[in-house]
Amino acid sequence: MARSKYSAKKKKKSVSRKVIDFFAGSEHRAYLVGGYVRDSTLGRESIDIDVVVEGDGISAARKLNAVLKGKIVSHPDFGTASIDIDGYRVDIASARTEKYPSPAHLPHVYPSTIVEDLNRRDFTINAIAMSISRTNFGEIFDPFDGLSDIKHKLVRVLHRGSFIDDPTRIFRALRYKNRFQFKLEDETERLMREAVKAGMIMKLSGPRILNEVALVFAEETYAEIVSDLIHYGILTLKRRDLRLMPSTSELAFYFLLSKLPRNMLPLTREMKKVVDGFRKIEDTMDKLHRSGTKSKIYNALSPVAEEVIEAMPIVNPQLSDKTKIFHNLRHVKPFITGKDLKKYGFKPENMYSKILHSVFLLQLDKKLKSRRDALAYLKNLSKN
Ligand code: CTP
Repeated sequence: MARSKYSAKKKKKSVSRKVIDFFAGSEHRAYLVGGYVRDSTLGRESIDIDVVVEGDGISAARKLNAVLKGKIVSHPDFGTASIDIDGYRVDIASARTEKYPSPAHLPHVYPSTIVEDLNRRDFTINAIAMSISRTNFGEIFDPFDGLSDIKHKLVRVLHRGSFIDDPTRIFRALRYKNRFQFKLEDETERLMREAVKAGMIMKLSGPRILNEVALVFAEETYAEIVSDLIHYGILTLKRRDLRLMPSTSELAFYFLLSKLPRNMLPLTREMKKVVDGFRKIEDTMDKLHRSGTKSKIYNALSPVAEEVIEAMPIVNPQLSDKTKIFHNLRHVKPFITGKDLKKYGFKPENMYSKILHSVFLLQLDKKLKSRRDALAYLKNLSKN
């Protein structure tokens, strides 16, 4: 274990070294920026290396990749490219300014210089650049005193309209606050509350909200972030709801989605099943609580998504025996099949699954003890 960690660290060093050496030896005007500079200042490892190039970022990225030999994907519309190499990602962007056509919508993008590029960013701690160009290697651009905010552990927006332009920054602020144990600077906190009050979150599209919620649950401190989301009125959860939140990040993610308005999120069919299950988790748990027999346990849990069943004993340990029983019941082989129903002349065929289910429940409760019993029961049934 320790060995692989060591080698990962070594590889990462060599990737950032190669990036820096490439630009320092080239004609490009390039800067390390954003998360990479912030994390290095904080002494934290970062697997993303963010570079901004004044000029054509994509062509610089292609030349860089001739050295790195990673997997490159470019996005000409945004003037950006990403290179994946050895588990690390190098993001290369063309310096740009952004103009928001209207609040909460994606911005229009124009080429610019590094200082203009820093102006468009979210927080002072992310608006620091360090030159890796030949001519001014090592020069720091910190127009908003981000280094001082890092030192004083503050998350601060660059301007009053920041959360209105891009309400995803509300989630981002809370992620940074909890990840680094920083404080929201007073005016930033006030502006954030104002944006929440103005209903800016609901102006975001479903995919953007889903992405932000997923990013929250990718953080180690997701539980604290959820607390903040509630505290600032971004999420309306009742105290009872919080008691129901499962204590693993994946399950908690689905649980939280179940508290957001229906139809707003672009969920896949499988995700929808889990989320709908969480919407009904309390009812299902009550039902399970009241279920004494195996057939009742099976009936309560068979329509429910696996993730929801998994969450129940975490939420209420008293239910763990019953969920274990259910897992065993799922391996029980039914005494009879559709073929038997056909043989006994049951009609119509669309009733088969209902009949098979009810016979299976009798089997689970040992009211039918063998295939022979089950066939006798069927024979009887076919006469009525
Ligand atoms: N950024 C921004 N506004 C946003 C998203 C991103 O200003 N809504 C800028 C920030 O300067 C940020 C950079 O784009 O540093 C890169 O974004 P991202 O990769 O999301 O953030 P990181 O800073 O790399 O942070 P993380 O560690 O969370 O990935």
